[in-house]
Amino acid sequence: MQHFISVNNVHNIDALAQKALAYKQNPFADKHLGVGKRIGLLFLNPSLRTRISTQIAAENLGMQVLTFNVGNDGWKLEFEEEAIMSGTTVEHIKDAAPILGNYFDVIGVRSFPSLTNKEEDYSEHVIKQFIKYAGVPVVSLETATLHPLQSLTDIITIKEQVLLAPPPLQKVSRKLKIVLTWAPHIKPLPQCVANSFAQWINAWGQADFVITHPEDYELDEQFTKGATITHNQQEALKDADYVYVKNWSTYHDYGKIYSNDPSWMLTPEKLKVTQNAKIMHCLPVRRNVELSDEVLDSANSLVTQEASNRVWAAQAVLAEILKNTNK
Ligand code: CP
Repeated sequence: MQHFISVNNVHNIDALAQKALAYKQNPFADKHLGVGKRIGLLFLNPSLRTRISTQIAAENLGMQVLTFNVGNDGWKLEFEEEAIMSGTTVEHIKDAAPILGNYFDVIGVRSFPSLTNKEEDYSEHVIKQFIKYAGVPVVSLETATLHPLQSLTDIITIKEQVLLAPPPLQKVSRKLKIVLTWAPHIKPLPQCVANSFAQWINAWGQADFVITHPEDYELDEQFTKGATITHNQQEALKDADYVYVKNWSTYHDYGKIYSNDPSWMLTPEKLKVTQNAKIMHCLPVRRNVELSDEVLDSANSLVTQEASNRVWAAQAVLAEILKNTNK
């Protein structure tokens, strides 16, 4: 693995997930792999889980870690080629990235979308400019359209549940049913977690995958192709084993809130038609807006386990990159 910006950088999802689960059992199995290597975690936007879990993962591999809040502490970066920098941007990525590439052996980048310019956001120009000019491996810590470390974690968490299940349940004759449901929110949020989850679950190919959302919240088909899509949430939830809850703003008429129907919030009542489904959310979550307290605090909620698994996903990815750079 050279860079990690989407599922397309992964040869074998199951093998990578298995590696992550092995690190969970033995966090220091490869404690010398990253000795003498330094990773820079560059945040253009806020984070709790990604920042801390990736730092722990890198340290478990023996790497030195430096975290830098570019968005708050750095110069405002310009990403447009041939820009006349007479506005608010102070430093061009063309100048900054090669320096960062000299300071670090691996760079992680978090950069949210503008939600105002779909073409620019969906071109992923920010992370692509880092890749173009840094000259070292680049790991997505969530970008405009995707959040691959989160999605790998989500698959790890589902695999772990299946492995932990009592033996008869490990051999269910039917496929797992995974449902991604839109949830209400007070702010227009990126589509990246939903895009990424859809992309990974489709590529994994080991579940019946249903996406449900109100009309006008269709995601980009390049990520959802292969899933069943319905506007009927209750129908979607029927017989679900896993329900992944996430808000996103509109994709086609970009970055808007059309309907914010509170009846889309997941409640215990709605979950009665599922197969005692486990509940997932990437966090942070707006309680009693996206998900009710009863659901989040129930025994079926995997959200804490899911967030904890972020360490092992990041560690598996960094190990793959380090092995490639050590060749
Ligand atoms: N899920 C996730 O990426 O959390 P943070 O925004 O806190 O990193």
